[in-house]
Amino acid sequence: MKSIILLLIILFVFCTQFLLGEAGPSPEQVVDTEGKKVRTGIEYYIRPVPTTPCDGRGPCVVGSGFVLVARSANETCPLNVVVVEGFRGQAVIFTPVNPKKGVIRVSTDLNIKTNLTTICTESTVWKLDDFDSSSGQWFVTTGGVIGNPGKDTISNWFKIEKYDDDYKLVFCPTVCDFCKPLCKNVGSAGGAPEQVVDTSGKVVRAGVNYHFVPASPNVIGGLAFTSIGIFTCPLAVIFANDSKGLPLVFTPVNSKKGVVRVNTDLNINFAYGDSMCPQSTVWNVGSRDNSTGQRFLTIDGVIGNPGRKTVANWFKIRKYENGYKLVYCPSVCKDCYYKCSDIGIYVDQFGNKRLALSNVPYKVWFQPV
Ligand SMILES: *[C@@H]1O[C@H](CO)[C@@H](O)[C@H](O)[C@H]1NC(C)=O
Ligand SMILES: *[C@@H]1O[C@H](CO)[C@@H](O)[C@H](O)[C@H]1NC(C)=O
Ligand SMILES: *[C@@H]1O[C@H](CO)[C@@H](O)[C@H](O)[C@H]1NC(C)=O
Ligand SMILES: *[C@@H]1O[C@H](CO)[C@@H](O)[C@H](O)[C@H]1NC(C)=O
Repeated sequence: MKSIILLLIILFVFCTQFLLGEAGPSPEQVVDTEGKKVRTGIEYYIRPVPTTPCDGRGPCVVGSGFVLVARSANETCPLNVVVVEGFRGQAVIFTPVNPKKGVIRVSTDLNIKTNLTTICTESTVWKLDDFDSSSGQWFVTTGGVIGNPGKDTISNWFKIEKYDDDYKLVFCPTVCDFCKPLCKNVGSAGGAPEQVVDTSGKVVRAGVNYHFVPASPNVIGGLAFTSIGIFTCPLAVIFANDSKGLPLVFTPVNSKKGVVRVNTDLNINFAYGDSMCPQSTVWNVGSRDNSTGQRFLTIDGVIGNPGRKTVANWFKIRKYENGYKLVYCPSVCKDCYYKCSDIGIYVDQFGNKRLALSNVPYKVWFQPV
């Protein structure tokens, strides 16, 4: 048995990437740590790029490796793929979408199988699990199948991509023409992202009212809603420059946890609504407006139910200069297409300062009511 180490950078799964064109000559071949071409049907260890050099004797044990483990004491099968420290992990075998070619190329769909006999009836072929709303993550599990590229197997295809001089592992399948899957780096979920704090330095909590004020000490303003032009529903989210606006409430995708963290999917709603419109008070990214080309924020979304149907109702908070910004970059749907965008202010023909997807973010502080 020949075991060769394939160095891969371990990355966090939070950032989202987009598909690049696939045209052109064959992508370059992946090489292992000995400089040899990586081939299908041979065992490799997927290792982090070491920060200190290995001594060259046997497999490098610096860093971590991938192993299969039960997800909890009660739920054994299928096994999840996890990163363990201080161990080279279990060997995997790559099978590219076109297995006739023995070589493994970057940016090419491939299956990954941990070469291990387990107690589970499921295979040990890696597969992206369904969205885990309790952690806001997509986990890699097993139980996939080798081959059969297409819509039904979309969760089983991974790619190796160049990353600086090394490689990274991504989920960004191109085995299905009409599917628009999400693209993500594969890595360990690591610690939870940092908590959002309010203007008094306290952690921002779910279900509590906040004014979304401009992140500048002397600027008055906040967010509110209004009908646009002649009375229309749903109502639009606007910036009001004469008050702190109306209070807003966060509901993170993992609603059991009371804290609000950056880079985490959450719903946002006004604490109270307007009896004139039947819709909710929950933020929604509307479809593209024909006359302005903008996607405006309206209040006709729903809380919860992460997935394809609710994708336009999920927002994230990101750190931005001395405050935060709101972004539309949902991770709640595996096969939805959207472009991540900041949320900013667009002044319409009536002078309404409407919130819309924008290149210029509204820099915000969260002020407790
Ligand atoms: C997979 O593991 C088995 C059992 O350890 C071993 O016999 C076999 O050679 C391995 N497969 C490859 C392709 O190395
Ligand atoms: C696992 O089993 C224990 C005891 O049987 C139980 O208390 C616990 O709630 C179970 N956990 C899950 C996640 O089902
Ligand atoms: C609010 O905006 C309006 C319209 O742009 C402007 O006329 C007014 O002076 C602003 N008020 C404040 C307090 O900045
Ligand atoms: C916007 O344009 C699309 C396609 O041209 C059309 O189907 C739709 O009715 C238009 N919407 C409005 C509100 O005018």
